[in-house]
Amino acid sequence: MIKLISEKVEMQRFVKQHKTHSRTIAIVPTMGGLHEGHLALVAQAKAVADIVVVTIYVNPTQFAAGEDLERYPRTLDDDLMALQKQALADCVYMPASMYRERHATSIVPSGAALPLEGEYRPQFFTGVATIVLKLFHHIQADFALFGEKDFQQCAVIKQMVDDLDVPISIITCPTERDYDGLALSSRNQYLTAEERQIAPKLYQAMQALAAELIAGKDVTDAIAHTSENLVKAGFTKIDYISLCDPDTLEAVSSKDDVMPETRILVAAFLGQTRLIDNESIEKLCSAQ
Ligand code: PAF
Repeated sequence: MIKLISEKVEMQRFVKQHKTHSRTIAIVPTMGGLHEGHLALVAQAKAVADIVVVTIYVNPTQFAAGEDLERYPRTLDDDLMALQKQALADCVYMPASMYRERHATSIVPSGAALPLEGEYRPQFFTGVATIVLKLFHHIQADFALFGEKDFQQCAVIKQMVDDLDVPISIITCPTERDYDGLALSSRNQYLTAEERQIAPKLYQAMQALAAELIAGKDVTDAIAHTSENLVKAGFTKIDYISLCDPDTLEAVSSKDDVMPETRILVAAFLGQTRLIDNESIEKLCSAQ
């Protein structure tokens, strides 16, 4: 049976009890709306630690006004059922709130948090870093697992852990994809049937872009071409298509600097739904 906890003090007691018995702990922070990508993180967590805690909390501070906080999938019964069925998680932490009424302190990450999502969603990484650090305090785990679907988020969390000497190891896991290449995301639930048909074209466009770059095409031209193709396919707005160094997230703009490990990161709207995806050029080319 999975232990369900909603109070911070009980969560801290649970962790202390297991630590007394020298058991290692891994956490998988989520906002619920669980899918196979989350379950793959839970499986990986169980492979590295004795005890796995999944957190479910829709964090309001990482949503800007006008974003999808209200309609973000809240599927607690289904989430718990999926975790029970998988039988790998030991505890689900689902706090009612993570912020006291007079909360007034936040982590404001710079560096890896500044480009890309940082430009289009300026409040996002402050909200993420603050809640993740709070969760790390509630659950003093040995490992925390995050999906590479949110590649920049992984970089920002690693940066925070290094900068603030947080005693936890961050493990990132590859993006899980649907049969047609669409990256699994809780937000895929927003897509209409018609949009769901178009959505995998984002991944296909990344593959085509990787192939053009490997063939030596100019970076700016290849990105412009990809953007045109996405609009033709039905994407309504492209926030960014970018090539980055996977470690520093610095932009790669010259074809001479393109490496197999260079990461392609994209964010684009399909109707009201904003999809993000990323992959290394090497992986995109080998998957074709
Ligand atoms: O990736 C997510 O689901 C969220 O950003 C996280 C890490 C759980 C923080 O709220």
